[in-house]
Amino acid sequence: MDKLVIRGGRRISGSITASGSKNSSLPIIAATLLNKNGTFTLHRIPDLKDITTFTQLLRYLGADIAFSDNTLKISSRNIKNLQAPYELVKKMRASIYVLGPMLARFGHARVSFPGGCAFGPRPIDLHLMAMEKLGATITIKTGFIDATIQGEKLHGGNIDFPVSSVGATGNALMAAVLAEGTTTINNAAAEPEIETLCNFLMAMGAKIKGTGTTELEIEGVKSLDAIEFHNVFDRIETGTLLAAAAITEGNITIHDVEPEQMKAVLKKFVQAGCTVDTTENSITLKSQHKLLPTDVTAKPYPAFPTDMQAQWIALMTQADGTSHITDKVYHERFQHIPELNRLGAHIEIHKNQAIVHGPKRLSGTKVMSTDLRASASLVLAGLVAEGTTEVLRVYHLDRGYEKIEIKLNNLGADISREKYNEF
Ligand code: EPZ
Repeated sequence: MDKLVIRGGRRISGSITASGSKNSSLPIIAATLLNKNGTFTLHRIPDLKDITTFTQLLRYLGADIAFSDNTLKISSRNIKNLQAPYELVKKMRASIYVLGPMLARFGHARVSFPGGCAFGPRPIDLHLMAMEKLGATITIKTGFIDATIQGEKLHGGNIDFPVSSVGATGNALMAAVLAEGTTTINNAAAEPEIETLCNFLMAMGAKIKGTGTTELEIEGVKSLDAIEFHNVFDRIETGTLLAAAAITEGNITIHDVEPEQMKAVLKKFVQAGCTVDTTENSITLKSQHKLLPTDVTAKPYPAFPTDMQAQWIALMTQADGTSHITDKVYHERFQHIPELNRLGAHIEIHKNQAIVHGPKRLSGTKVMSTDLRASASLVLAGLVAEGTTEVLRVYHLDRGYEKIEIKLNNLGADISREKYNEF
């Protein structure tokens, strides 16, 4: 197993280009299942464990895939298997993204029910509700979701989501684009990842109104084309790198980004005392002053993202005062806090809020990753901790960050990846 060994106390400075977005890549790769006869070329696909897991699933279903230099070539011409097995789905909940496109194209899909998650309950009831609104019959038996339709095609319907869900919106979109008639989705997720999926589907020939808003209208079409597409930047990787510069009193410029998508996050860095400058496609952050305590509340886009909550908590351990970090998306997403306290932080948890008392001098020790963003917060803390921090089980980090230690070392960090055995 791999661990990261971080020798703290070095400033993060320099410039770097952002990777492609993981959370946009997954739904657009799934959407290729909607085409019967062509080959897609997808650019700026990050080389991550979750992408490997998802392409393994598509290959298992019968897709032909080639991946090199962040370009994915994929054809879903020869899909033979309509069952997504537990062995692959258990590795990644987002595997559920094959449900909508398979149902839309084949009228049938059998997907293993996703298992538990480190940061609390993550139901899929809204995904299933949306499929039923479009005419599917869903049965759950022996750990599988069995979805079928009576006639030839799904039909249009009205979907009202009680809570905003990125995944359920994505699945509903991919099912509705080939359905008979018109579908409306109310309280849809408006995350940039959903906007990117809409742009991808429209480039394939889909008819969608309301892109970028919480009200979507989809008029079903007969077929969709294979296309070439450029994925967008990863706003969470970008936020994490900005936090690395902020926590080490450094300065960083990140290129090939869309600052517009990061408004809520950039506003908080400014409130915390950093200087932030943006151009059309770059962000520069300078952190020369004492960090100021800054409260955040994680909510659906365009608010502050829950996927930056853990990194913000790590940052606030160095702020001059007390900060309150509330998560209104995942109420129990705080597995990183006991590990940060092991490094010398002083953080309390009250229901879905973390209270961070700063500034605290952190000192290096062994800490355990529990999920993707939790592990990123431990790496950030390790950058400022005195001595050496060992972040264990970094397979969590590798799920969503492309070569993170190489990028940070190129920006001045001193991190090595080493093997170790767990007893
Ligand atoms: C996506 O997960 C992201 N994953 C998550 O990022 C991110 O944390 C999340 O959106 C919220 O922004 C991917 O895009 C692959 P949701 P998703 O459905 O789609 C409830 C990362 O770190 N809900 O928007 O699974 C749910 O419990 C990952 O990259 C239902 O109640 O999240 C949660 O409270 C972690 N029923 C809320 O909605 C459902 O059927 C938002 O979840 C579905 C969701």
